Amino acid sequence: MNDPLTLPEVARQAIAVFRRAALADSDAAISVGWAPGRMNIIGEHTDYNDGFVLPAAIHRLVALAGTPADEPFATLYSANHQAWARVPLGDDVAFAGEQVPLWARYVQATWRQLAMLGSVPTSAGFKAAIVGDVPLGGGLSSSAALEVATAMFAQSLGGRALPPLDVARACQRAEQAGADVAVGIMDQAASCLGRPHSAMLLDCRALTFTYVPIPEDAEWIVFDTGAPHTLATSGYNSRRSECEAAVAHLAPVLAHETPGRQIHALRDITLADLTQHSALLDDVLLQRARHVVSENMRTLAAAEALQKCDLAMVGMYLNQSHASLRDDYEVSCFELDAAVDVALAAPGTFGARMMGAGFGGSIIALVRPESSAKLCERLVSEYPRRTGRNGALVPCDITGEAGIQAASWRA
Ligand code: GLA
Repeated sequence: MNDPLTLPEVARQAIAVFRRAALADSDAAISVGWAPGRMNIIGEHTDYNDGFVLPAAIHRLVALAGTPADEPFATLYSANHQAWARVPLGDDVAFAGEQVPLWARYVQATWRQLAMLGSVPTSAGFKAAIVGDVPLGGGLSSSAALEVATAMFAQSLGGRALPPLDVARACQRAEQAGADVAVGIMDQAASCLGRPHSAMLLDCRALTFTYVPIPEDAEWIVFDTGAPHTLATSGYNSRRSECEAAVAHLAPVLAHETPGRQIHALRDITLADLTQHSALLDDVLLQRARHVVSENMRTLAAAEALQKCDLAMVGMYLNQSHASLRDDYEVSCFELDAAVDVALAAPGTFGARMMGAGFGGSIIALVRPESSAKLCERLVSEYPRRTGRNGALVPCDITGEAGIQAASWRA
């Protein structure tokens, strides 16, 4: 149980918004659940290939504050969108569909996933206010934070607590249903399991993880390019299909060569396999597979370098990751490349890369603390000159953690 005085600011704001929006009877006790956004140090587009990722939860959160309700609906107010929504929760009503705003669909879809696992509270529905300071569409997983915050809120209302990775999987399914994108587990796992001052090396097949302490003698700069995510949904789903197609071409041949060898995903394939059997793949599939296979290696190596506080090495892997995402996976864009170039040209930068799914969104750069102010200045002044867009620095501390405060606030 959290001491009300140490509730995160966003959770307090959600309670205040809930009160102001007069969503509750004056004597109702308000519960609150919250969850963080994430940055990803490395391991991009590897999660849905059964690979490795190294995300870290940031101090930016989404919180839901509210009360149970007797009718099978969620009555929601989003402070960020300044909008209301009322969505059905029962299993007998069809999925909310397009007429419901996306943010409300995420809440609805998460609730339904939790209901299937028997971990929603006994009340038929709920009323909640939603507040967040994870930038929307900036590649910091605001939607995963919203889903996991919904799950935490369900728990704060008395829903049965599930193991965090079961919550992450339920939230991943909710994201897939809500946004129609076949996302992997990384964002929801990071939001559920992130710990302050640590990155999390997650094996997305075994769903096992270790925490890697974040060295104090470097800073992580996140810069949102402001580039629109126009191709994000179709681009993401087509990359995923291409990875599956590459496995389908390679698996029978590799299994025939080495009887008993199990090949279910690009995780099971090596760079040597790709070199030896490049003729089985067209150029595009070869590029996609090469990115994933090499990114898995970089992720493991970067986690080890981080553990050893070898920041120059971590930076080198970030740079290689960017080149691979740009040239082989083709999910970068002009703005992301420009921001990375500006960051790399600044003295004291260990490395930089696009972060998240790509097609817009943010970059991260790893920089010496004494050089970080200069780097930020350069991004703010040079990036608009190069791209004609105003990007924005998004200060992020690696101090996020999901949490709840059950029914102790009087409206
Ligand atoms: C999005 C998805 C994740 C992951 C990244 C790319 O953030 O939600 O599952 O695939 O893109 O690494």
